[in-house]
Amino acid sequence: MEIIIESDAGALADRAAQIVFAELERKPDLVLGLATGKTPIGLYQRLRTKPKAFAKVRFFNLDEFFGLAPSDPASFNHFFYEHLLNHVKFNPRNVHLFRGDVKDMEEQAQKVEDRIKALGGIDLQILGIGRNGHIGFNEPGSSLGSRTRPKTLEPDTVEHYGGKIPNLAITMGVGTIMESRRCLMLASGADKAEIVQRMVEGPITSEVPATALQMHPRASAVLDEGSASKLKRRDYYKWVFANKWRAGQT
Ligand code: GLP
Repeated sequence: MEIIIESDAGALADRAAQIVFAELERKPDLVLGLATGKTPIGLYQRLRTKPKAFAKVRFFNLDEFFGLAPSDPASFNHFFYEHLLNHVKFNPRNVHLFRGDVKDMEEQAQKVEDRIKALGGIDLQILGIGRNGHIGFNEPGSSLGSRTRPKTLEPDTVEHYGGKIPNLAITMGVGTIMESRRCLMLASGADKAEIVQRMVEGPITSEVPATALQMHPRASAVLDEGSASKLKRRDYYKWVFANKWRAGQT
């Protein structure tokens, strides 16, 4: 995993935006997987500064709560319109976000898997990490080969949302996420330090689904000093990033 440590949440968002814009420049019709949560909001604010860059982008997202219609302010669908889509130019036919209000969630899961394949796979998947190590809503114990499916949420996860959300969700599987060409994991703040240490330096285990990223050929974790504070080899990662070979460099 490539580890990039920035000073604070603002610098983390700047770095993440730089990575996303570089991918968009390379491929304007990028297949982009979006993530919810507090962490990527700064990234989305920066992406909004180039509204035309999204005209051809194909959008997917990681997960959604059962039963919440896109009009529900607690739905993730609503989140993406509020923080990104309402502020950029996009083609509605290119938006493939989950809906929480469909009856047959397994059918929706299969449709999303099929659509991702039909579009050639996800080019860039943005990710966050739950304090229990989940990615998307792949809670601890999720198979590292899992596909998109309905998932029961841990009481702790429900609590994270103030207890006001359903305890069932639909999520891309760990295996689905792992097929993305590039993963961009964002984690900010000292309350993520312990789980970030396990994700980067711990053993690969379904108890911490985010550890699957250690097996990904192209995963970058953009951290801030808070979330990186428990990494045993923190200084080494900084040194590597400062000294790495970059395309165009002789
Ligand atoms: C939710 C989402 C995850 C996200 C996590 C972290 O559980 N399903 O995809 O990564 O929250 O959110 P935050 O960035 O608010 O800590």
